[in-house]
Amino acid sequence: MERSRLIEVFQWLHRHPELAMEERKTTAFIRNILAENGVRLLETGLETGVIAALGKGEGPTVALRADIDGLPVCEQTGLAYASGRPGVMHACGHDFHAACMLGAALLLKAREAELPGTVKVIFQPAEEVNRGAALMVATGLLDDVRLFLAGHTYPWYEAGILGVRPGPMMASADRFSAKLTGKGCHAANPERGIDPVPALAAIVTAAQSIVSRRVNPFDSAVVSVTRVAAGNTWNVTPETAELEGTVRAMTEAVRCDIRRRLEAMVTDTARAYGCEAAFEYERGPSPVINDEALCRRAASLARAQGLEVRENPPSMIAEDFSEYLKIAPGAMFRVGTGGGYDNHHPRFTADPEALMPAAAFFAALAERELRQLAA
Ligand code: NI
Repeated sequence: MERSRLIEVFQWLHRHPELAMEERKTTAFIRNILAENGVRLLETGLETGVIAALGKGEGPTVALRADIDGLPVCEQTGLAYASGRPGVMHACGHDFHAACMLGAALLLKAREAELPGTVKVIFQPAEEVNRGAALMVATGLLDDVRLFLAGHTYPWYEAGILGVRPGPMMASADRFSAKLTGKGCHAANPERGIDPVPALAAIVTAAQSIVSRRVNPFDSAVVSVTRVAAGNTWNVTPETAELEGTVRAMTEAVRCDIRRRLEAMVTDTARAYGCEAAFEYERGPSPVINDEALCRRAASLARAQGLEVRENPPSMIAEDFSEYLKIAPGAMFRVGTGGGYDNHHPRFTADPEALMPAAAFFAALAERELRQLAA
């Protein structure tokens, strides 16, 4: 696919954003381009998302992964190809990811006869709600994949710069909540009730000590209480109080340790104040831990292709790319797309000039890794 056509594809996707699990037009658009170019599509049995396969059907398999969903954000970029759907925007660059991996798929299609194995190209729905990767994995079509590769837009680097992070790159993201039950009463007679509000306040304060006092200073973690709720008015002591928040960690060990300590802190503190606590903890995506040797090989390939490589910092944001890494190792790279507004910001943009070099990089990396696995 030519550079100008690839940019058109990206701009079409940008104009037509769809929310997670609703990516029907996006799916049809991607399927059409792949089918027009003779790329084999695998039957996923899902309404949205696409998995394509390139190669002769022998040898090892590696995968390239893009995500395709937009966000409920009102676009304010002023771009000529801005979202045509009010309130929905490709504000995280998943349009760029899809176009980039379409470009890579077509570059690989041109070399299909030479490929020493299979490249599966994943266009995953619903990354923003952490569902899509699990759906793709559940198709069973990725069971034979031995290496997963992905890229993510990065507004803090200009086009032509690739961010590589060997080892832990993105955090796990879990949600916790607690409901404290005391005993409501007239606010003038506290001795007749059990006030859950001081218990809630004590928990919020104590939770801050988990990261500062219980996690090794050389490990990274976040505990944030993001919502508290109690009572309806000024002269009634409420019966219940609630809190909700998130735990982020870069390793499974730290993640599990924080969960255990947080649960104990909530239930024991509540008890100390005479309340009962119902604690809930929902595990979200796991940490993304990049394969270090793969990162080194990718960095040298990127340099050979004329990209500038920078080692970039890890992030406490999560990515469901980690679901694929439960099958096989892999790495996610940050693709410089300029713009200077953060991902998810209404003014977020991705420089189309970054597309072709990124597509070429991922196609070359997939082929080279395939060659290494086949050797
Ligand atoms: Ni994203």
